[in-house]
Amino acid sequence: MKLTYRFLCAVNILYLTYLISIFFTKTPKETSLPVLTENVRPTTQVREIATGLDFTSIKKSKYYMNVPHRILPKHFCRQRSILLVMVHSQPANKLARASIRRSWGSSENRQKNNVSMFFLLGYTPNSHLQEYVAGESAQFGDIIQVNFTDCFRNATLKSLMMLKLANLHCKDSVQYLLKVEDDVLVNLRNIVEMLGRDHYAQLLIGRLLFRKTPVRDPGSVWYVPDNFYPGKVYPNYLESFAYLMSMEVARKLYEVALEQVMFHIEDVFITGILAKEAKISPQHSALFLGGGNKHLMSKCIKHYFVFTGMSASQMISQDFFLSRC
Ligand SMILES: *[C@@H]1O[C@H](CO)[C@@H](O)[C@H](O)[C@H]1NC(C)=O
Ligand SMILES: *[C@@H]1O[C@H](CO)[C@@H](O)[C@H](O)[C@H]1NC(C)=O
Ligand SMILES: *[C@@H]1O[C@H](CO)[C@@H](O)[C@H](O)[C@H]1NC(C)=O
Repeated sequence: MKLTYRFLCAVNILYLTYLISIFFTKTPKETSLPVLTENVRPTTQVREIATGLDFTSIKKSKYYMNVPHRILPKHFCRQRSILLVMVHSQPANKLARASIRRSWGSSENRQKNNVSMFFLLGYTPNSHLQEYVAGESAQFGDIIQVNFTDCFRNATLKSLMMLKLANLHCKDSVQYLLKVEDDVLVNLRNIVEMLGRDHYAQLLIGRLLFRKTPVRDPGSVWYVPDNFYPGKVYPNYLESFAYLMSMEVARKLYEVALEQVMFHIEDVFITGILAKEAKISPQHSALFLGGGNKHLMSKCIKHYFVFTGMSASQMISQDFFLSRC
């Protein structure tokens, strides 16, 4: 009895110490952006530090589009297929790419569904990683690497390069283009089945976000100054993890993009601002599942098109369920 009491006391004290320690320990910042200090002077400079952008000097997209590629497979879009999937990945995400190749993106599954798939990467200054990417490309032949630094703020540039490459190389061989991030599981069979039912010339579909307002807090990476985007709301747009379009839409978006001032928030720009300018309205599909994987265990997922928020191992296990449920 006494012993139990002492034991409980000890546990209590330990717990209290733990609580006190978390109270006094600052949680680490999530981003590695520089912390603003008191002596940073003018506001424009403060803004640049927060977003890494000088909004006064951003030019039209066409000024950024002459980026050469470092890696482009010779067979890119040489083969006819109904759908081209571009998986936006970063050099470091080796595991994610490996798990896609072993699950929905396997050559067997692609062939069966008449789909081609490539990973789209930016450049990394890390020479080991760069060598690794070159090796991976030699082994699998499914990597496209463009020559700009792969980072969050260059995400728009990556999507513009996707549109450029698709328009340059795939117009005659492919009918539809699907952009996904590398934590997305794609149900190729369902998508291709849907696409086979009709010809959807004006297709632009994904998870639609309504009447989102620009972030006006200079400390945020999503910050957009009033004079750079004066509107109170963004045009409705599709969440970045996955969107599907016809090649006709890809062409229009790219043509419109060249004359538009570049906007650093990728999904807002590509599927909102550019789509509006091109008079294409993005459509919502409840079959694009976002927001992590909480749905997965409770539902048979085979009716859906895509799911985001997959770790590399979930990608493989869920793909296995998909093929069985
Ligand atoms: C890539 O860009 C760097 C400068 O950022 C340049 O030095 C290099 O030559 C470029 N490589 C290719 C293949 O264009
Ligand atoms: C794959 O899709 C392309 C483009 O729609 C088509 O021309 C080709 O016949 C299809 N191949 C098969 C095997 O169905
Ligand atoms: C985006 O890419 C360009 C071209 O390589 C580079 O100059 C710029 O630093 C990159 N942006 C960031 C934030 O790294």
